[in-house]
Amino acid sequence: MQDTPQTQFTTRVFSGVQPSGGLTLGNYLGAIRRFVDMQDDGNETLYCMVDQHAITVWQDPATLRRNTRQLAAGYLAAGLDPTRSILFNQSQVAAHAQLAWVFNCVARMGWMQRMTQWKDKAGKNQQNASLGLLAYPSLMAADILIYHATHVPVGEDQKQHIELTRDIAIKFNNDFGVDFFPATEPVIEGPATRVMSLRDGTKKMSKSDPSDMSRINLTDDADTIAQKIRKARTDPEALPSEAKGLEGRAEARNLVNIFGALNEQSVDQVLADFGGRQFSEFKPALADLAVAKLAPISSEMGRLMEQPEEIDAILAQGAEKARAIANPILKRAYEIVGFVGA
Ligand code: AMP
Ligand code: TRP
Repeated sequence: MQDTPQTQFTTRVFSGVQPSGGLTLGNYLGAIRRFVDMQDDGNETLYCMVDQHAITVWQDPATLRRNTRQLAAGYLAAGLDPTRSILFNQSQVAAHAQLAWVFNCVARMGWMQRMTQWKDKAGKNQQNASLGLLAYPSLMAADILIYHATHVPVGEDQKQHIELTRDIAIKFNNDFGVDFFPATEPVIEGPATRVMSLRDGTKKMSKSDPSDMSRINLTDDADTIAQKIRKARTDPEALPSEAKGLEGRAEARNLVNIFGALNEQSVDQVLADFGGRQFSEFKPALADLAVAKLAPISSEMGRLMEQPEEIDAILAQGAEKARAIANPILKRAYEIVGFVGA
């Protein structure tokens, strides 16, 4: 066994979003706003548009191109700064897919089949799902570990995939007798790690929900946002004055969480202001707040989308910086595996 260098794992943040549709308020509060916070904390940050993950289910090519640029516009409009964060699309850094192949041979079938996202997305007809959909978490582990990333900000739904990433890192290190890949930490924090559907408080808000009324899109205009909040499902009770009173009231809890997350207040602070009031008063306040916070992002996205060359140039520069970090790590991984010429 070749001796391994002492690897020093300094804080490095990586995360990704799939360009498989428009961005939702869930993506913004659960992920992108956290990306901006971590950038502002002075970390080394890499944020990716995971186009190769998107094609695990069918994507029309022209739509995929548009969604990738729109996601990049969303990142920029929300405050990610290409001089401080590395912003790029996954397909342009070949090392992700190259390392993923190695991980496909380290990870076990059973690990993939256990994933709840696989079970949800493949549904009843698993035989007809793409092989990529099953191997999805292996590529995700490669996205993270190709940078030796230590911290991954995500929403609650991705926790199981990050745990699998750790399992893959540990098994690789054990199989080859090295201390090469770090144990990655999920960063699942903040008041909105799970923003729920506006139509059903037990389902997460998702860009793939067939009902557009179930979500707020970052591209929605003020009237649409206000209408969706007005029509959001609630119960007939007034708001409670403390968080305990939200138990068993999924829809009420969701709207209060969203208010708190947008206004950077705790649930208790929101309820201190709105406890005892009816939804007929709370909903207009929430709609005004949502419009005030989201309208600048949406208009900046619109502006950026009119300059696709600017977006493409940012992504090209980001990919170059990402390759400079990823390629030496891939080379070392290939050497560890025993590939000649690496
Ligand atoms: P996706 O749109 O599935 O690629 O998700 C991108 C990021 O947004 C991931 O970190 C997700 O965990 C996060 N996310 C997606 N939907 C929600 C939601 N409803 N609430 C909180 N976070 C979310
Ligand atoms: N699976 C993530 C999602 O659907 C997206 C993703 C792909 C990701 N690779 C990643 C997130 C690496 C964090 C780190 O939300």
